Amino acid sequence: MASDRPRVLSGIQPTAGSFHLGNYLGAVRQWVALQETHDAFYMVVDLHAITVPQDPAQLRANTRLAAAQLLAAGLDPDRCTLFVQSHVPEHAQLGWVMNCLTGFGEASRMTQFKDKSAKQGAERATVGLFTYPILQVADILLYQANQVPVGEDQRQHIELTRDLAERFNTRLGQTFTLPEAYILKETGKIYDLQDPTAKMSKSASSPKGLINLLDEPRTTAKKVKSAVTDTDTVVRYDVENKPGVSNLLSIYSTLTGETIAELEKKYEGKLYGALKGDLADVMVEFVTPFRSRTQAYLDDPETLDSILAKGAEKARAVAAETLALAYDRVGFLPAKH
Ligand code: TRP
Repeated sequence: MASDRPRVLSGIQPTAGSFHLGNYLGAVRQWVALQETHDAFYMVVDLHAITVPQDPAQLRANTRLAAAQLLAAGLDPDRCTLFVQSHVPEHAQLGWVMNCLTGFGEASRMTQFKDKSAKQGAERATVGLFTYPILQVADILLYQANQVPVGEDQRQHIELTRDLAERFNTRLGQTFTLPEAYILKETGKIYDLQDPTAKMSKSASSPKGLINLLDEPRTTAKKVKSAVTDTDTVVRYDVENKPGVSNLLSIYSTLTGETIAELEKKYEGKLYGALKGDLADVMVEFVTPFRSRTQAYLDDPETLDSILAKGAEKARAVAAETLALAYDRVGFLPAKH
């Protein structure tokens, strides 16, 4: 798929089970749009997943589940390259080279590592978790990606990617494209339905605030209807004073394409119950086909696995070429076959 479109690459961890509405509106939906305008590579990052303990059977199931949901959300294997990271051994191979180019102090400054290792107790954090960002660097550089669609929390990892690419290019000769972060739109930011000042996340304090796309549609409707609002009754977008209602409006607007202003007008003189009831319907209409498309892939793992095999083959063609060049620049003796 030679292409003059800019190349994007991104990854998602197979650790969550069901995607939640925040994942979908914040990232996956934009991945789907980018396959129309970019030469897009998307992967399920199972190598990254094992930086924290994983149950093997669960990891395998979650890897298929993540791929199935990406396809259900609209990624089209004919318009993008969708693959599983461990199917392309070049990631680990270039990851090692990048490890040897990174300063220990430089890696120690990665804030996500500091947060994650503090959470589980620094003594127990693995060396893999420490080098997680460096594997991510390899992920990106292998594909000579121009842009990396990620959330704000990944900006530092993209900066590291640029630093290491530049260091390699300067020391050993032009090899890697310097990528840019393509920070996903803040408008896609979805908040917890029970605590609308906190980002929707699977580690939410109450499951009632989290919309899992694979939940029973009835459960989803119920969660929307019991979303926290405020004691006022006016349906108006005002994040500061009405974070709950504003969150519902932005979810509604993102799912239907109606603007916030149109929605405010539509609910003029109506109570929150009307907004919640309609949004519950909108949500059910969205999740019902999403669930059944995901289920169809899970019911036919052979088809799913063969889509992933083709994706890995396309990915490897690109990755192997970059790795061969990088190995040559480093000074490795070519293996004779
Ligand atoms: N670290 C990313 C996240 O947690 C996932 C990821 C791994 C990634 N490799 C990548 C994202 C390469 C973009 C490009 O969201």
